[in-house]
Amino acid sequence: KIIVLDFGSQYNQLITRRIREFGVYSELLSHKITAAEIKKMAPKGIIFSGGPNSVYDGKAFHVDPEIFKLGIPILGICYGMQLMATELPGGKVEGATNKEYGKAVIEVTDDKAVLFQDLPQKQTVWMSHGDLVTQVPDGFKATATSENCPISAMANNDKKFYGLQFHTEVRNTEYGNEILRHFAFDVCEARDNWSMDDFIDMQIAKIRETVGDKKVLLGLSGGVDSSVVGVLLHKAIGPQLTSIFVDHGLLRKGEVEQVMESLKGKFGLNIIQVNAKERFMKKLAGVSDPEKKRKIIGNEFIRVFDDEAAKLDGIDYLAQGTLYTDVIESGTDTAQTIKSHHNVGGLPEDIQFQLIEPLNTLFKDEVRELGEKLGMPSELVWRQPFPGPGLGIRVIGEITEEKLQIVRDSDLILREEVANHGLEREIWQYFTVLPGIRSVGVMGDGRTYDYTVGIRAVTSIDGMTADFAKIPWDVLQEISVRIVNEVAHVNRVVYDITSKPPATIEWE
Ligand code: XMP
Repeated sequence: KIIVLDFGSQYNQLITRRIREFGVYSELLSHKITAAEIKKMAPKGIIFSGGPNSVYDGKAFHVDPEIFKLGIPILGICYGMQLMATELPGGKVEGATNKEYGKAVIEVTDDKAVLFQDLPQKQTVWMSHGDLVTQVPDGFKATATSENCPISAMANNDKKFYGLQFHTEVRNTEYGNEILRHFAFDVCEARDNWSMDDFIDMQIAKIRETVGDKKVLLGLSGGVDSSVVGVLLHKAIGPQLTSIFVDHGLLRKGEVEQVMESLKGKFGLNIIQVNAKERFMKKLAGVSDPEKKRKIIGNEFIRVFDDEAAKLDGIDYLAQGTLYTDVIESGTDTAQTIKSHHNVGGLPEDIQFQLIEPLNTLFKDEVRELGEKLGMPSELVWRQPFPGPGLGIRVIGEITEEKLQIVRDSDLILREEVANHGLEREIWQYFTVLPGIRSVGVMGDGRTYDYTVGIRAVTSIDGMTADFAKIPWDVLQEISVRIVNEVAHVNRVVYDITSKPPATIEWE
């Protein structure tokens, strides 16, 4: 495997993804990891990610200098390259006269540079930096140059240390994938033998080893992730798994039934269904701050668990469908907390179980692939992502039963129409939100003063970035007409035309 050390760049996960796409297992780890810990993992290579800091900042992230003595190849990207140049003797980093953001053309100046093998001498790359390396460390030579960045790449072939000022992991870097491939296969000599089947075998073995003859409790939220965890655990430990499906009253219409039918009916999971609607509504009454709502829902979810689990005997583990993106977006050492994700941020400190999170190294599309490999039906696996806090964050502000009903009913209409027009796979995620504003309308002969429903539909690869979906006007019109006619207390429908960033996909 190849490990990526996180220095806080918004692109750091992409590096991991690209490498996994090559069939080489890769993980994003904290930059605080020690050389001794890395040695134990015995990775084939190490990548230092980019990051927002300047290496000269007081708060700049550093690495354990012993890492350079492990004899493992290292590739520094952007901040990672600058870090190498400051940590290794002889190197120098300075502030650039012109900060550079966007496309640039580099020229490879060393025709034997291993990372640029068989690639054109001039190529377009994606730059995003305020500092630059002005002097390579001892034993290095510059291998590429550009107008604003004389040392765009550097190499020390003896030590197998490489630095790139540009971001190989973003698509705007024309040969980014090829360059990363050269690092993975030619420099690190990694093998492309990582696949989902291996992952399943590995996880099943790991789960069995961790769990032994103990019992595991799973929180089924109704979404894809916890369903996949359920089937995976069922495969690993069968009857030692008990699942609790907490119906918090914030699921979409028909969802509870669909999940129960498949997981209990078809796969034979042992599921206890708990109707906790009132508990959640009571806790949420009067609360309108999004982060508070998220924390309340997350906490209450676990509390319901505690209560149900107390009725069961001898449970030691709690399994959750936490994904890689949840872990990272909830804030690693470097990333800012954007939203506290239900699965992670809501955990109370006095929780009684140990956690098992078998998906916490996977991206969403990898989870779907895993689900299919486990034999789950595609209707279940390909359901659009659904946030843990459910409709609770799609009713903006204070949640009431009436508002939930409007979101449920309008959301069902949207889903039906997207399906009727065969757009399900084209749109990555689509749902309705209730912003809580009311406006004036006219229906029949009368004036109305009713709610506005927002439609959110996006295309995305992994939810990290997204574009609003270009749904044809006539389809939008049909949806709008149906919502206004069929859902009580709605007289206006609007379409959200913002991308992520700057907006997030959900409204809260
Ligand atoms: P945002 O709104 O942050 O959402 O752009 C990105 C993706 O994550 C989903 N999401 C969540 N998923 N627990 C989850 O499991 C959560 O708390 C949560 N919040 C957002 C969201 O639906 C979108 O697919």
